[in-house]
Amino acid sequence: MAEHIVGPVADFPPGTHRVVQVGRIEIGIFNVDGAFHALPNICPHQFGPLCEGTVNGTTACSAVTGWQFAWVRQGEVVTCPWHGIEFDIATGQALASPRLKVRKYTVAVEEGYVKVSVG
Ligand code: FES
Repeated sequence: MAEHIVGPVADFPPGTHRVVQVGRIEIGIFNVDGAFHALPNICPHQFGPLCEGTVNGTTACSAVTGWQFAWVRQGEVVTCPWHGIEFDIATGQALASPRLKVRKYTVAVEEGYVKVSVG
């Protein structure tokens, strides 16, 4: 597992995400309220650039929302720009399908820099 510096932490303020190149791999770095996540920039559906999608929330209807549709999880979901499948940034799991999931890379902030482990 090789660790790569992808930039100063100031380049990744809370609520933002961007795609970085690590060797031959494109990785999306997400800062969700100060928690960093790293996902591959390739969608398991049809290989679209997942991490170039928008970060948003999603709709839900459950006992928690009083069985009314409600907007939830703002800033925790990335939507693939090709066909709109939503993924939980923290887990890599597609919201609509248990069969679609992307791996996560280990990402950390050390000495003012964001580092991701690839291997
Ligand atoms: S390629 Fe991502 S939703 Fe189809």
